[in-house]
Amino acid sequence: MVYRTVFEIDQNRQQLKIREYFNVKSNIMTVQSIEKYLKTQNLNIEIQDTLTSTNTVLKEYAEQGAPEGTILFARQQTGGKGRLGRSFYSPEETGIYLSILLRPKVLLEEALLITTCAAVAVAETLEEETGQQCKIKWVNDVFCEGKKVCGILTEAAIDPEYATLKYAVLGIGINLFPPEEGFPEELAEIAGSVISKRGNMADLKSKIAAGVIDCFFAEYQHLTEKRFLDKYRDYSLITGRAIDVIRGGNVRKAHALGIDDNFRLLVRYENGMEQAVETGEVSIRI
Ligand code: BTN
Repeated sequence: MVYRTVFEIDQNRQQLKIREYFNVKSNIMTVQSIEKYLKTQNLNIEIQDTLTSTNTVLKEYAEQGAPEGTILFARQQTGGKGRLGRSFYSPEETGIYLSILLRPKVLLEEALLITTCAAVAVAETLEEETGQQCKIKWVNDVFCEGKKVCGILTEAAIDPEYATLKYAVLGIGINLFPPEEGFPEELAEIAGSVISKRGNMADLKSKIAAGVIDCFFAEYQHLTEKRFLDKYRDYSLITGRAIDVIRGGNVRKAHALGIDDNFRLLVRYENGMEQAVETGEVSIRI
């Protein structure tokens, strides 16, 4: 605790010198500030100041037997991970970085449901809390105003005997406010933040964190029913657009036709061949 000195006038019109105590960290998201908004029960939330990667550390917890619903936040990450071996820029204060431990009873091929369910949860929550229109760029990126504001990385451990998941770590990184020094040059083109000015960060962050968790778990209970499929389709940024499909270093021009019932991307290549793309990356052609 620290204090500052303030002055007040008492009933006898005398100036009083008062020490006003306050918590220097009061503008920081805490477990309590998240729980104030959270509806989902039986979660175990932990917040650390600095971690390499919440995904990496939560995987260690998972190996030690941590239960489903363990959620790890970091106020900043020094080695935030993105898909396809990329890094995820995770500066202090301006973003929300969390990982959720799941032990779903699903087959390996159903793991994509976790990522897509989380993408819908993020898009819905951001729209509700900020009024911004969001889009999902297949398969795991959430965009606002043409910029990527959220990335999702699901890492899973497999039970090879049954081809099921032993556990999955769902990692979500949201750029809520612009970083103080801007995004690094290599990200400036693509990355953006949901809100363009910095404001009362802790409260909004807590609301958004709780909203994402609640939206996700509401659907996770019925994951294989895919009740969020229509929403995912509605949020799709690339349906109907000219795209490049990038797989194993190979780039092919295509037209994005839509999302199939298994969340695969339906494309038509220039030679007329149609395909349901399950993995890889796409970029929009301008
Ligand atoms: C991507 O954009 O390719 C995915 C980015 C995922 C970032 C989140 S931040 C919390 C969690 N911890 C990580 O190291 N990565 C995920």
